[in-house]
Amino acid sequence: MSEKVTALRDELILKLNEATDAASVDALRVEYLGKNGSITGLLKGMKDLSIEEKKDFGQKVNVLKEEAGKLIADKIEEIKKLEVEAEINSMPEFDISTPANLSRGSYHPITLVQRQCEKVFKSMGFNVEDYSEVVTDYECFEALNIPKHHPARDMQDTYYLENGQLLKSHTSAAQNAIYKKYKDALINEGKPIKAIFPGRCFRNEATDACHENTFFQMEGVMVDKNISISNLIFFMKTMLSEVFQKDIKVRLRPGFFPFVEPGFELDISCLICGGDGCPSCKHSGWLELCPCGMIHPEVLKAGGIDPEEYTGFAFGLGLTRLAMMKYGVKDIRDLNSGSLKALGQFTDDE
Ligand code: PHE
Repeated sequence: MSEKVTALRDELILKLNEATDAASVDALRVEYLGKNGSITGLLKGMKDLSIEEKKDFGQKVNVLKEEAGKLIADKIEEIKKLEVEAEINSMPEFDISTPANLSRGSYHPITLVQRQCEKVFKSMGFNVEDYSEVVTDYECFEALNIPKHHPARDMQDTYYLENGQLLKSHTSAAQNAIYKKYKDALINEGKPIKAIFPGRCFRNEATDACHENTFFQMEGVMVDKNISISNLIFFMKTMLSEVFQKDIKVRLRPGFFPFVEPGFELDISCLICGGDGCPSCKHSGWLELCPCGMIHPEVLKAGGIDPEEYTGFAFGLGLTRLAMMKYGVKDIRDLNSGSLKALGQFTDDE
């Protein structure tokens, strides 16, 4: 019996080594660890063993189960990293050494993209809000339905000050203050809350070509009576079509964030191939751009808004990512380099 365990282990490792995309690794997870998976199946074959044998074999299977889970998770992590690198490598070349015209000042590429987004949202009646970079644990997590010790905090490890405050890990940290600022006008005068808030965010990340400990996001929220997912799709589509100066198709996939329900990942049709499939979009025709969703009732409540009466959407656009996509910047570190040679090459195309 224990040969079976070893054989299955070897077989899984072999297949994992051959897998090249997340979908096939997930298929392996189902094949081995799913309800009817081969590892799960080993336990079902135990009924004819003696008690001693059962104990020994069961233990071996459990060790394998744990190891297989870890091997699969590691492989998915590795594939994701490679996919991001491939996406960045397939972008148009931006030459860091091209001499810039330093006699004229220029805006940082993130400022350019931020201003384009602000312009479009302002034209659709959104207020542009500014918010601090140092926030409280309540603002960054608790008010967003992420209690202490919630696993969602893992992905947003950030820098803490001695007084317990922290550098905000996402622009969502301003949501609570925005709701409180505008809720009276919403409730008493029926004015919908429509706000965007761009800002610098921080995460305790190891830095490489795709990760930085400091990056920019732009949050957007809209709250009123009868706001639905269709409103969210409309505003996102309009904004992206303006920024990229062409009609952009969007699609939503389910995504999890504790402060939205339902939550989505918004994809846009690939800018390079127009949706036909190319190396940039890993032949899917789609690029992942912006997490979003309908604001969770608990989050509205924390902002003093009755979720029985009002609904709203929120999105968190990655401005750094948008700038990299728009200008073909392959290494995120160039953006924080402070190098005029690298950063002086961008101009507003309007
Ligand atoms: N704040 C989230 C993040 O940075 C993104 C997000 C914003 C998701 C708004 C949903 C709604 O990961």
